[in-house]
Amino acid sequence: MSDTLNAGMREFWNGEGGHRWVRFQHQLDQSLVGFGQAAMEAATFSTGEQVMDIGCGCGDTSFEIARQVGPNGHVKAVDISEPILAQAITRVGAEEVQNVSFEHGDAQTHRFEATAFDAVFSRFGIMFFDDPVAAFSNMRKALKHDGRMAFICWQPVKANTWVSLPLTVVGNHLPLPLPPGPEEPGPFSFGDADKLERVLVEAGFSDVLIKSCDTPFTVGADDNEAAAFLMQMGPANGAISEADADETTKSLISAELREALMPYRTEQGIVLDAATWVVTAYNR
Ligand SMILES: C[S@@+](CC[C@H](N)C(=O)[O-])C[C@H]1O[C@@H](n2cnc3c(N)ncnc32)[C@H](O)[C@@H]1O
Repeated sequence: MSDTLNAGMREFWNGEGGHRWVRFQHQLDQSLVGFGQAAMEAATFSTGEQVMDIGCGCGDTSFEIARQVGPNGHVKAVDISEPILAQAITRVGAEEVQNVSFEHGDAQTHRFEATAFDAVFSRFGIMFFDDPVAAFSNMRKALKHDGRMAFICWQPVKANTWVSLPLTVVGNHLPLPLPPGPEEPGPFSFGDADKLERVLVEAGFSDVLIKSCDTPFTVGADDNEAAAFLMQMGPANGAISEADADETTKSLISAELREALMPYRTEQGIVLDAATWVVTAYNR
């Protein structure tokens, strides 16, 4: 792996970002299950298929896909983060599936076996490339002829209350950093559906279908858990970290956030709006 390629995101996911993802693994797996299901419905796996799970994180979707493709199928789960992959590997025994293998690598450059896979899948793992056309082209070459890519990614921040609400609260107490530029990697780098389609077509994909999908996002069982989660994940955390906020300011943010979350209480916990793109594209 070259030192400069995806250096910022590699450092983030191998550093504090990755460790945080591991700490919140249980909550994330519960909160993100509906998003994974939406992408899996678009992917429609069959028994016996060879599937790649890109940016597999702690392996939740990899294990589920392995169950769907059955013992004659296989999932190769790839991630750039060593701490996250290490956590995924600890789960293999308990998940009782034999047909998953985890591999450390950058999906933009990893030497995948050519024309070997029926499908490439991702739940929020494909927005972090410096050169997305090169990355998607690299993944496409791993697909068999007629193989498919299916993934879910975020729409822009303004369509996602789970980001805009905590950011507004943080902005009442701290300066907000400038949002990343349109060509920079990050969770919202494919918010613009036209850009997303252009990237996939330039990477050689055909029959690109981008569907808008609103999925309720349970960010915590109650206001305390939700505020802690929202202050530790995503752009609100980025703003708090960048400003190096002191404990008093964090307490003020937490109190205001808990108050702002009150209207979103449901029997399922604190549920915020989340808007995503569910995407399919083919190697034809
Ligand atoms: C938002 S998390 C999603 C994790 C998992 N798919 C899930 O839904 O729980 C993004 C994941 O993508 C991984 N990632 C980021 N850039 C990557 C790259 N260039 N190649 C492979 N994985 C990458 C991160 O390490 C992280 O595990």
